[in-house]
Amino acid sequence: MRSRAERLLRSVALAIVGVLLAADPISADDLFDYGAYLSSECTACHRLDGVADRAIPSIVGWPETVFIRAMDGYRRGEMNDEIMQNVARSLGDDEIAALARFFNQQGNRE
Ligand code: HEC
Repeated sequence: MRSRAERLLRSVALAIVGVLLAADPISADDLFDYGAYLSSECTACHRLDGVADRAIPSIVGWPETVFIRAMDGYRRGEMNDEIMQNVARSLGDDEIAALARFFNQQGNRE
């Protein structure tokens, strides 16, 4: 026999789980696909095969945290490159996270 309080607790718990699930709208695959979509802006300069092209460094296969830190450095002007500062400042946190995932996985996917 469940008490009223137990039933109430259970429905509150279910409501919380529902909110938590709804708050995570972007799956791992979605993040990768979003990054792939955004990456065309980057691959005008950066090569996808991991080869540095004269002044343009390779950005594939980096740990995502390092990639995000670098983009943040450009956004805040701690990393000094006018082109990359402009690129990074046009991007939000979600976009940078998606790009970090996409470039990290280059070479690791079929
Ligand atoms: C117009 C050319 C150009 C475009 C477009 C461009 N980059 Fe860059 N990027 C550069 C250059 C040049 C550097 C090296 C700058 C420096 O010396 O700090 C660089 C550096 C970087 C670095 C740091 C690399 C390192 O070794 O420290 C990251 C990360 C990066 N770019 C990510 C991106 C992403 C993500 C995009 C797309 C949203 C992008 N870039 C678009 C030219 C470009």
